[in-house]
Amino acid sequence: MSLPVTAKTNKKGHLEIGGCDLVELAREFGTPLYVLDEKTLRDRCRDYGDSFKQAYPNSEIAFASKALCTIGVSKLIASEGLGFDVSSGGELYTVLKAGADPKKIYFHGNNKPPREIDEALAAGIGRFMVDNEQELGQIERAAEKMGVRANIMVRVNPGIEAHTHEFVQTGRIDSKFGVPLDQLDSFLAAVKKCKMVHLTGFHAHIGSQILDVKPFVEETRLLLDLTLKYGTAEIGLGGGIGISYLPEQKPPTIREFAAAIAGVLRGKTEAKLILEPGRSIVGQAGVTLYTAGVVKEIPGVRKYVITDGGMADNPRPILYDAVYEAVLANKAKAEAEEKYRVVGRFCESGDILIKEASLPRVTPGDILVTTCTGAYNYSMASNYNRVPRPALVMVHNGRAAVVVRRESYADLVKNDAD
Ligand SMILES: Cc1ncc(COP(=O)(O)O)c(C=O)c1O
Repeated sequence: MSLPVTAKTNKKGHLEIGGCDLVELAREFGTPLYVLDEKTLRDRCRDYGDSFKQAYPNSEIAFASKALCTIGVSKLIASEGLGFDVSSGGELYTVLKAGADPKKIYFHGNNKPPREIDEALAAGIGRFMVDNEQELGQIERAAEKMGVRANIMVRVNPGIEAHTHEFVQTGRIDSKFGVPLDQLDSFLAAVKKCKMVHLTGFHAHIGSQILDVKPFVEETRLLLDLTLKYGTAEIGLGGGIGISYLPEQKPPTIREFAAAIAGVLRGKTEAKLILEPGRSIVGQAGVTLYTAGVVKEIPGVRKYVITDGGMADNPRPILYDAVYEAVLANKAKAEAEEKYRVVGRFCESGDILIKEASLPRVTPGDILVTTCTGAYNYSMASNYNRVPRPALVMVHNGRAAVVVRRESYADLVKNDAD
């Protein structure tokens, strides 16, 4: 089970993370509750920084803030020396508030609103990752109006299919993202006509939760070819390697991932390599605590355990069949003896967190923990059924700090007009 690196079972038989007893955290902060382990998060930032610097020194790691974007988390990540990939004005605003170095901000998106382009230019961000020709025109006009130069990387569609869910594949030919390779020359001719836009290199992103280095190696070769052909200075490889949500998912280590990519580039180019991992930085650091409510048995069919959260705090299973494991924090030493479908409290039959979880016998009031929820959970959460979003706490050395406070009913209606 991929728990945070500080996870252990304490004398009470409770699961502990960052020196904090999860049963006590549930009591103090309520459930559902997102818990993030500072040590795991810092370790992963360092794994990426060190592995890539060693394998290919001219490299930069920019955290994909879409995976988890809050001021506190961004501050911690910036303190580890990472830059940021942002894909909206809101993410840009958040990481700037956290004190991110604007020069290390990479602005993505396949239809950046003009206002957000202006905000990014005014902030002096490092690079616009340009997705199409219309956007190029928008950036040129905005830069001209502001009298500033915009450095861009072109996002190409590499036509690489990776083995991951269709909705998190982005490099296929039939994709809304990126400039198709057969349109690249005409795109570059348009770049040449721009006065305020300067092209630094090519970028691609083949998808997320990819557990094999091969498609990344293929992508790196393609970007290297473009870099050599057009004499550009930077290569943007997109997101990081996948993570182990289930024991049978065995991704390569970050070191192996870095070595495979560096193996393509070393000796062939001096171009700067930019990588934007999200999931593999924050995923394993996070767990979500729920209180088990109704336990329902349909004889001959299955047993259900209904939590006080579900698809609004973790929409990944209903969106793309994402898989998770669970454990009971208050029965961490007990053997798994029953199979349960772990579901949520929301008004959708598809509100399933885990189709079949092996757990000790569940009784109402147990603290059920889903693991590997640090990435794309809080950042994708909604207020469906007008349920306030949970709090997020960061744990370290026996202390828990609130990084995002729990929403209140007042928060839910604060933008409503009569
Ligand atoms: C352009 C881009 N970069 C980086 C990422 C982060 O990917 P991951 O979380 O798999 O590392 C994504 C995620 O979809 C992305 O679209």
